[in-house]
This record gives sequence, structure tokens and C-alpha cells, in this order.
Amino acid sequence: MADHALLIGTTGMLAPVARQIVGESQHATLCARSASKFSFGESFLDDKVMKLPLDYTDETHFLDTLRVRGPVDLAVTWLHPEAHTLRDGIADCVIPGGKIIEIMGSASGKPDGFADQRLEAMQAHAGKTYRQVILGFVVEDDSSRWLTHDEICDATLRAYRGFDTRTIAGTLEPWEKRP
Ligand SMILES: NC(=O)c1ccc[n+]([C@@H]2O[C@H](COP(=O)([O-])OP(=O)(O)OC[C@H]3O[C@@H](n4cnc5c(N)ncnc54)[C@H](OP(=O)(O)O)[C@@H]3O)[C@@H](O)[C@H]2O)c1
Repeated sequence: MADHALLIGTTGMLAPVARQIVGESQHATLCARSASKFSFGESFLDDKVMKLPLDYTDETHFLDTLRVRGPVDLAVTWLHPEAHTLRDGIADCVIPGGKIIEIMGSASGKPDGFADQRLEAMQAHAGKTYRQVILGFVVEDDSSRWLTHDEICDATLRAYRGFDTRTIAGTLEPWEKRP
């Protein structure tokens, strides 16, 4: 259970993950451009959440606002940009003993790719637990498909609760079979 969970980019496909984590946390901060319009539809959950309508492409304003909001012990991020400064700034908001979960797209999983770079960057955050979820695809007979939202959420919750540094949702192999 987190005392203060920070949720970034979790109002879309990851909303069920946000719901689960907010349910288990004392309180939470949820960031998305349209965060103020987002609702779990249950006051028990909505009352625990500070909704910050922020655009993470304005890194300075985004990180300044998070710093004012205060430290967290869990951060879950689904960010499109491969932005190390932004991601490191978010990790700085997590207290020692806390946990950071980064969800990233399939291209990040290439050897020496972005996921490997993040693993290395997170070594600077001693005392914090780092988990990454790489979203792959599913090979079925002669064809392949992208993951369903349920599969993405299941993999993220497995990473949240489990002990593996890296969780691959579906597969990244064979790469040429991706949809
Ligand atoms: N390997 C795979 O299978 C795979 C991988 C990736 C994606 N997908 C698919 O692609 C679809 C689309 O993914 P998606 O990421 O566009 O949708 P999404 O996860 O449903 O939504 C993106 C989240 O990030 C937030 N966000 C986006 N830009 C932002 C910004 N500049 N600043 C702050 N927050 C921002 C959004 O809120 P706001 O819009 O309010 O800012 C929302 O919370 C998914 O539904 C999934 O099916 C599949």
C-alpha cells in the first residue's frame, strides 16, 4: 500500500490500474492534460485523488508542480517521450524505499534500447525499487496482434506486485512478426 501514489498517463488504457492502486493507497496525485475531467465514478476513490491537469511536454512546469505537490512513495508512468530528464525528475519525487513503475512501448525493448537505458539511469536512485513494463504483442498462429487493455493492465499490476525488474507484456520476439 502506498501512502502517496503518483499516477501519470493512467486515465486511458491504464485506468483500471489507477483504480486498483488508488484503492490501496492513502492518497494519490493523478496527472494528465484532462485530469480534471477524469473520474473513477466512485467518491471513495475520487476523494483520495488530487487531479493535476498537466502536459508533460512542458517538462519544467510539470516537474516544478510535482515538486510542490511533495514526495511520493509510488510512481506509475505511461509516457510517450523517451525523455530521460523528465523521467529522472519524476524518479526524484519518489522517496527512498519507494517504487517506480515505467510502462513503455515495444520499440524500447530492443537490445541497448530505451528500456536498457532506463535500467542504467535508475541505478542512480539507490534505495528505490524500479520496475519496467514493456508492451509487446501477441503471436497467434500465422498472425499477430497488439495487446488488449486487459493484458496491458494485468502485466502492469504483476509488475507492481511482483519482484521482476522487467515485465514483458506478451512478447517482443520474433520482432518481424509484430502487427
Ligand atoms: N504494444 C501494445 O499493444 C500497445 C502499446 C502502446 C499502445 N497501445 C495501444 O495504443 C492505444 C493508445 O495508447 P495511448 O497512450 O494513446 O492511450 P492511453 O493510454 O489510453 O492514454 C494516454 C494517457 O497519457 C496521457 N497523456 C497523453 N499525452 C499527455 C501529455 N502530453 N501530458 C500529460 N498526459 C498525457 C493521457 O491523458 P490526456 O490525454 O488527458 O493528457 C492518458 O492518460 C491504447 O489504447 C493501446 O491499445 C498498444
